[in-house]
This record gives sequence, C-alpha cells and structure tokens, in this order.
Amino acid sequence: MSFRQKHLLGIEPLHPTEITAVLDLADQYVDLNRQAMKHADALTGLTQINMFFENSTRTQASFELAGKRLGADVMNMAMQASSIKKGETLIDTALTLNAMHPDLLVVRHPHSGAVDLLAQKVNCAVLNAGDGRHEHPTQALLDALTIRRAKGRLHRLNIAICGDIAHSRVARSNIILLGKMENRVRLVGPPTLMPAGISEFGVEVYDDMREGLRDVDVVMMLRLQRERMDGGFIPSEREYFHRFGLDAEKLSYAKDDAIVMHPGPMNRGVEIDGTIADDINRSVIQEQVEMGVAVRMAAMDLLARNLRAAREDTAAGVMA
Ligand code: NCD
Repeated sequence: MSFRQKHLLGIEPLHPTEITAVLDLADQYVDLNRQAMKHADALTGLTQINMFFENSTRTQASFELAGKRLGADVMNMAMQASSIKKGETLIDTALTLNAMHPDLLVVRHPHSGAVDLLAQKVNCAVLNAGDGRHEHPTQALLDALTIRRAKGRLHRLNIAICGDIAHSRVARSNIILLGKMENRVRLVGPPTLMPAGISEFGVEVYDDMREGLRDVDVVMMLRLQRERMDGGFIPSEREYFHRFGLDAEKLSYAKDDAIVMHPGPMNRGVEIDGTIADDINRSVIQEQVEMGVAVRMAAMDLLARNLRAAREDTAAGVMA
C-alpha cells in the first residue's frame, strides 16, 4: 500500500508516491462522477463529520458530496451556532464529537496548527480543510490533478503562483507539493504580500507580472485575502489590478498553451479579469472544482482503508 498516512494534515509529510497514489485513485473517481449513477461503497457504514470554523462554500460542499457518493453518513456541524460560542474550547468540542465515534473528521479552522492539535485528541482520521495560513492539502492535490490532466504530467513544469502569497495556505501547500514533484515554481506579487523566509522555499520570486509569467506552463492566481490583512498591504484595488491582475496582455507572456487556475472564490477585476476566468480555452477553474470532489473521495477512501487496517490490528492484538 503506497499511502501510509493516518491523517491528511498537510502536504509536508507526504512522500511523492503517496501524492501519486491519491491522484491515481482520484482519476478513477472522476470517471465515476461523470456517470449517472455516482455511488461507490468505500465509506459505507462510516461516519464523517465536517467541522468548519470558517466560512466555506466549495470546500465544504465538495467534502459533503464526496462522503455521500462513497456511502458515508455525513454530518455538517454548524460551528457558528455551536458551543464554541458559549466558550467551549476546540479540544472540548473535539472530545465531545469523538465520543460519538466518527471515523472521518474534516476540519477548517482560522488558526494555523489548530487541526494538528485536534488530530492528537481524537481516534479517527482527520482531514485538514484549511488551517489559517498554514496548509490546505486537498486544494493542492486537486490543483495537482487538474495540472496533471491538462498537461499530461506533473514534473518539470514552470508554474507561477501569483498574488497574495503571504496570507495563502493554498500557495503554501502548492509550493510544497509542486516542489516535491520536481517542478519549477515562481512566486509573483508585491513584496508586501510575500511571506517571510521565502528563500527557504526553493522558489524564484518576481515583483513584475510580465517577467514572472514569461514562458510558464501554469498561471495560478490567488484571491486577495483581505480578512487576513491588518493594514496597508496594497495601495488600492485599481492599482493592484493594474500591476498584478491577470488580463490578456499579461497572460500573453506565458506559453501559448498555458492554463489559468484560481482556487475560488474569485474577485473579478481585482486579481483576475472576468473574461480570462471565463475563457474555456485557457481557464481550468471549473475543472478544479470538479477535481476537488474526486480528490476528496480518493483521500477519504485511502484514509478509511488505513483506519480499518489499524482497527483490525488493534482487535487482533486484543484477541491474542
Ligand atoms: C481557499 C481557502 O479557503 O483557503 N479557497 C478554497 O478553499 N476554495 C482560498 C481562498 O479563500 O482564497
């Protein structure tokens, strides 16, 4: 078995063969999802709880659909309305849920590291659906699957990740994944939106879009994450679009067959021109959403196999 993880907390702990294992299985789920009958039974009998402490549209919907298509009982906890508001700690909430015997916990949290902490307190598989600025592993995996299907490979590609890198867990997980798969990653954006310690990432950094996009295979745009900014990171949205927004003229510096990506939600006219986002010859933004469901099915399937194997080992130990 090539996928050995108990949880999916980040891309960091994954071996390249584990990344490939997720993507290969996800390819099969893409085929299933395109059929009229979309059911498989990989998670039958298992309980999946989604805990989103931060707003989410596509990620939560995607995890919910993924679980249901694989036969799990899926529950969405409304965390805004939960006891957290009454002062219960994250750990108490986790222990309460744990007592209900979930098998898969999908967690999004505004604080970096919160999901790792939670994983230490429960005895089920935990999937990180985004923690602060830290990691968003299923997003990087779905981006990787989208790239692999569009380009026919996932190595030796030139990939530009553009915009608000500093606040982006999507960028962080992608930088790690694309580096592990031996691609050349460039970060393009204003110096104020570059994270500290950028030199450790093994990437090239540009503050000019035209230079940064020259001859790249993939252009990955990021949302300006204002909710994570506490002050003057950018002069104005107009000025930002002028210098860093993706439009046809800037895109012309990339390879002729370069694809355009965005994790959503998009600010049209801020980081990306609406016509580029909708251009079916260049934009793979809708494919990213489609791959998201398949990747989450694959990730939960693989984790559930490991969970069952670990439980069988424990049971055998008790018998012996
Ligand atoms: C991203 C996130 O929440 O980190 N969105 C997503 O998961 N689809 C990116 C973002 O919010 O800009």
